[in-house]
Amino acid sequence: MAFDWAAFGVDLHLDLPLGGRRAELEQALRAAIRAGRLAPGSRLPATRALAASLGVARGTVAAAYDQLVAEGYLTARTGSGTTVAPVPPPVSFAPSAAEPAPPRFDLRPGAPDVTFFPTAAWLRAARRALGQAPSATYDYGDPRGHPALRAALAEYLGRARGVLAHPDRIVVTSGYVQALSLLAGLHRVVAMEDPGLAFHRAVVRRAGARVVPLPVDAAGARTDLLESTVDAVVLTPANQFPTGVTLAPARRHAVAAWAREHGGLVVEDDYDGEFRYDRQPVGAVQGMAPEQVAYVGTAAKTLAPALRLGWVVLPARLVEPVVEAKRHTDFHTEVLGQLTLAELITGHGYDRHVRAARSRYRARRDLLLSRLRGEPVRGVAAGLHALVPLPAGGPREADLLAVAARHGLAVGDLGSHWHEASDDHPQGLIIGYGTPSESRYPAALDVLARVLRS
Ligand SMILES: Cc1ncc(COP(=O)(O)O)c(C=O)c1O
Repeated sequence: MAFDWAAFGVDLHLDLPLGGRRAELEQALRAAIRAGRLAPGSRLPATRALAASLGVARGTVAAAYDQLVAEGYLTARTGSGTTVAPVPPPVSFAPSAAEPAPPRFDLRPGAPDVTFFPTAAWLRAARRALGQAPSATYDYGDPRGHPALRAALAEYLGRARGVLAHPDRIVVTSGYVQALSLLAGLHRVVAMEDPGLAFHRAVVRRAGARVVPLPVDAAGARTDLLESTVDAVVLTPANQFPTGVTLAPARRHAVAAWAREHGGLVVEDDYDGEFRYDRQPVGAVQGMAPEQVAYVGTAAKTLAPALRLGWVVLPARLVEPVVEAKRHTDFHTEVLGQLTLAELITGHGYDRHVRAARSRYRARRDLLLSRLRGEPVRGVAAGLHALVPLPAGGPREADLLAVAARHGLAVGDLGSHWHEASDDHPQGLIIGYGTPSESRYPAALDVLARVLRS
């Protein structure tokens, strides 16, 4: 015999029930090739021999071989039979064994309490939205996003966030991060808050822009220091990430004036602007300079990061370039989620959820303040995280993170947010109070209090 039965492997016989159908044979062969059990170049048995061995019709084996030749797994050559085609090495999607276990108590910033996702309201909205949707909904759509969502957002953002928004100026994106990437791709020099999120700096650099630091103090980003060489500045005015400072009125005016004078763009990251606890949410900077500001919002904090739904309200001059960038990235954002969100907003389910989430997070913030009484806690007026500055000459961030880890507690640090690492930076912990479930939260705070007093 020209072929090697041993190389064919017992696996194949195990995977395939006697008298199995063509689809099962194809599946077993694909699996064996992907897993490398059938190496590139191996010769397969003749159809007659394999059919007899498996108890199937010869035509079944021939059809399976033909299918896999068409898919590129096998190569058939007259005179030399059927062989396994050269394929790239198999890819394993199994999680790596080295992945660290999740902490027992998670007070890292960045995520909301995902157990609070309004599943019932979302399902009702999806049923209503999709039940009424014409079949054209399932075709390719507008790169700016579905008109129903853009109309709903224009109304909501004007009412709730003080944004001057017309549906034609809105582009729906895959979260804040895509809006940032599209905007950064249109600018050469981008100033970003220092400290700020390192991931977002990396996104801007990948989009091809140069990042320059903009210091942050007790009044927010030093927009008074912006230079004419900067093309765009990225700010978190409602709740600076990670310090929790609100951008002071004078700094808001300074950034609007800089943008007008130099033709610069302000990218306003309003990631959690709805969550303000001491008074009405602070209105967007965009409201005072709509032709200078690209306002970006996201459903990541109000609903769930997994939705990957964000929106950008653009100055007139940037609509066309951003729409073209979006078209050439992914054509448009997935539509079924957009329609559901539109329905949730127009039916006021979104407002109800945001109100409920705000009071839940305010209660968490209050519990944080009461458990850490006596500790300095900053940036507590808004959002889902707070800053605990560490006294000069006291314990360093790294030491406290290590103590916390020994107690099964994970928290954030200021250190990873600076543009340049240095021993001279002020030290502090960033406490995210969105992440843990309601039941785990008080215990997490107890551990934090013990670590801080240790
Ligand atoms: C500062 C900041 N901006 C924006 C976002 C939201 O990003 P996205 O909408 O891409 O999930 C986050 C999420 O953690 C954030 O921390």
